[in-house]
Amino acid sequence: MKDQKLAVGIIGLGIISMAHEKGLLDAQDMASVVAICDIDEQKVNQRARPYNARVYTDYRQLLADPQVDVVDIILPHNLHHPVAAAAIECGKHVLIEKPLTMNSSDGYDLIERAKKEKIKFSAAENTRFVQAYLEMEKILFSGELGDIYSVRTLIAGSEIHRLLDTGNWKGKAKGSGGGVIMDAAPHTFYLLRWLFGGVRTLQATAQKLVDVSEVEDNALLFGELNNGALFTAQFSFTTEAPWTERLEVNGSQGSVIIDHITNPVGILYQGTSDFSGRSLDIPYEPELWKIKSIASGVYDFISAVWNDREPSVDPADANYAIYAVEKSYQSVQSGDTVTL
Ligand SMILES: NC(=O)c1ccc[n+]([C@@H]2O[C@H](COP(=O)([O-])OP(=O)(O)OC[C@H]3O[C@@H](n4cnc5c(N)ncnc54)[C@H](O)[C@@H]3O)[C@@H](O)[C@H]2O)c1
Repeated sequence: MKDQKLAVGIIGLGIISMAHEKGLLDAQDMASVVAICDIDEQKVNQRARPYNARVYTDYRQLLADPQVDVVDIILPHNLHHPVAAAAIECGKHVLIEKPLTMNSSDGYDLIERAKKEKIKFSAAENTRFVQAYLEMEKILFSGELGDIYSVRTLIAGSEIHRLLDTGNWKGKAKGSGGGVIMDAAPHTFYLLRWLFGGVRTLQATAQKLVDVSEVEDNALLFGELNNGALFTAQFSFTTEAPWTERLEVNGSQGSVIIDHITNPVGILYQGTSDFSGRSLDIPYEPELWKIKSIASGVYDFISAVWNDREPSVDPADANYAIYAVEKSYQSVQSGDTVTL
């Protein structure tokens, strides 16, 4: 057992940082928050208080803090690569929110830098920790669904408010690197790689319904997976309902439908007359499933550093997701089917 806890620095105190803080609290036997950074001085002072943490408004000052071992980066997309690269250079272990970077060559660059510096590096890809998908993994492994014919996914919620705010990075091509494809599709591509071996070909279309925004807010993708199954993936930033992710898997022996805002969350059907189906062992937590999975990802990363093991999310898989995002934009622009 080590005698000193890991010292964590958080960079970026936006909407999703609370879920990271929950993960760090769960890992309090292994780590404590010692430094916090945001450009918003009032926010950073307020949020540092409960930890009695050191306060920074410039991330370079936090990275220069010799007492910080681990950095948790929760920033707009255009800052992921520069801040993570600087953190690795300072010898910190680095966890970074999805998307890993805005393009796969930057992602590859970070992976190589992390290897060279022998630090732990991962993406906070919460998909890996969503209980419904862990249940789906078990069902697929059991072979209960038979041969998989098709997979359908949806990620939907509303970002209309942020897209209408022309000062917010979310609707800016430079800050976000794209719209709903850059923002939401990394989750889906990570999932498709994890459960079905990834995407072989795809075609993508995208629309922008919010006029003042610079980025697409709706997208539809379809194609073929590496296991031969067909897939469709839909993404929406303009759905005025609680954020959800839906996954439908259809096989020769049955189908599973998962949706985080329906109760039960997951049902396995076996045949066209199986009207009631079998409810899967997934708690109905429409407000918490996302937060809990993000917190579990943060906990996993801290535990990986503490126990000197690899994090459960391989950054190469998070970077595959960015590669697939690039391919999707290529298809949107050309109108052609692309091969991965
Ligand atoms: N895993 C998920 O499901 C999930 C959900 C939401 C967001 N995210 C990701 O989390 C990241 C942050 O998203 P968000 O919605 O919390 O954004 P946000 O806009 O709410 O927060 C970003 C924060 O970064 C701060 N900031 C901006 N520039 C900075 C700088 N140079 N130095 C220090 N701080 C700076 C801002 O002041 C703000 O507090 C993004 O990568 C996003 O894709 C992931």
